[in-house]
Amino acid sequence: MEKTLRTKFRSRITARLGRTYLSRIQKYGIGSSTIRLLPDELLMLLRRDGLDPVDKLAGVRATAPISKVSLPFGMDVWVVTGHEEAKAVLGSADGFSTDFAHLASNAGVAAEQSPGGLGFSDPPVHTRLRRILTPEFTMRRLRRLTPRIDAIVEERLDAMRARRGPVDLVQEFALPIPSLTICELLGVPYGDRDDFQRLAMDRFDLFAGTTAPFGAMSESLEYFRDVVRAQRRTPGDGLLGMIVKEHGDSIDDEELAGLADGVLTGGFETTASTIALGSLVLLRNEDVFERIRTDDAAAAPFVEEILRYTTAVQLAFPRFAREDIEIAGAVIPKGDMVLCSLSGANRDASYVGDDGRFDPHRNATGHLAFGHGIHRCVGAELARMELRAVYPALTRRFPQMKLAIPPQDLSFRKLSIVYGVESLPVHLG
Ligand code: HEM
Repeated sequence: MEKTLRTKFRSRITARLGRTYLSRIQKYGIGSSTIRLLPDELLMLLRRDGLDPVDKLAGVRATAPISKVSLPFGMDVWVVTGHEEAKAVLGSADGFSTDFAHLASNAGVAAEQSPGGLGFSDPPVHTRLRRILTPEFTMRRLRRLTPRIDAIVEERLDAMRARRGPVDLVQEFALPIPSLTICELLGVPYGDRDDFQRLAMDRFDLFAGTTAPFGAMSESLEYFRDVVRAQRRTPGDGLLGMIVKEHGDSIDDEELAGLADGVLTGGFETTASTIALGSLVLLRNEDVFERIRTDDAAAAPFVEEILRYTTAVQLAFPRFAREDIEIAGAVIPKGDMVLCSLSGANRDASYVGDDGRFDPHRNATGHLAFGHGIHRCVGAELARMELRAVYPALTRRFPQMKLAIPPQDLSFRKLSIVYGVESLPVHLG
């Protein structure tokens, strides 16, 4: 009896504190002050030590690859750092939802600012949206982008060559390539590319200020609503125009704008970060640099290992248990949030067989850099196309390229879902 009362009291307090926390996130975004409230067991998922996950994460994974973390206001979050365990959670669409409405309704908050779109929807909505998007990402459709990607890469290399002194590979190379590729993919005007970059960066940077990420989210949706209206009037050959031609009014402007926004958010910073981190690995491994420069066959396995080793998307979308569910011996109560650490999973010794260091000879199949299950990255093949194009082109154009600052002076993102290096100054040689 006493226990029941205690439980009731606890859940009322939890709901109240959760409500305060959520309304704060909804009002101000996930800013630095909100983040500071989080315990170290969660912050470790967003931190790194150079290219490696922090030591604490390996320690937690070794003892408890799935563990419960209690937030200061009584909410429980489950942290998954093991490869098998993460696969089990991500693979169980019946057991887990990605719909933020769960978090909101658990804490009694209206879900009108739930992010929506592909990543944050469940079947059957997710199945329908994904079916609309998938045909645009088949190799047959993507192949039309190959010459465009090559041209974009060459243009960037020419622009870098024209610069004097050290060049920042992040600004001059890694960021523009995926941004311009997505312009091509969606069929939106080139003139909008600066807005593209700003909107996409705000979506993921946890320290981007008080408007991020919800403010940036509505801003970019607003932008895409205009693009979609223009494509309805005159459908082009890009993804949006093709969907308008194939699906007509069966997809409304709001859903289409959400899909476009999801593609930008999903495909821009993720690819840019991986391009930059992979370039850094090349700069620090002369023999690998040389192999990528001279051997066409080396690019594909290198890209796979870079995806695994750098795991730019550190965390999968939050999952919410639909019912009480058992994963690897842990019972996750209905409604609890589960965070899967993809960087933790990709370094798990039970998957890689060692400490997960960069190994150009590793056959890195089965990594979770693109996630797993129904939300697995829809743009994985496009990302691979871009990555396989950039490294050989970069090393061939600038065979003498060197880091312009000591590696220990490089600055990485401190706390972010998408990990990255802030800048990568190089002498082109
Ligand atoms: C190296 C580059 C990339 C990485 C590391 C990456 C990683 C991921 C991951 C981990 C997920 C699944 C998250 C989860 O299950 O919780 C995901 C989903 C997604 N990605 Fe990517 N991605 C990359 C590039 C792209 C590109 C190029 C596009 C499109 C142009 C894209 C669009 C998406 C979309 C729309 C989703 C949501 C899929 C769904 O919910 O069904 N991504 N990505």
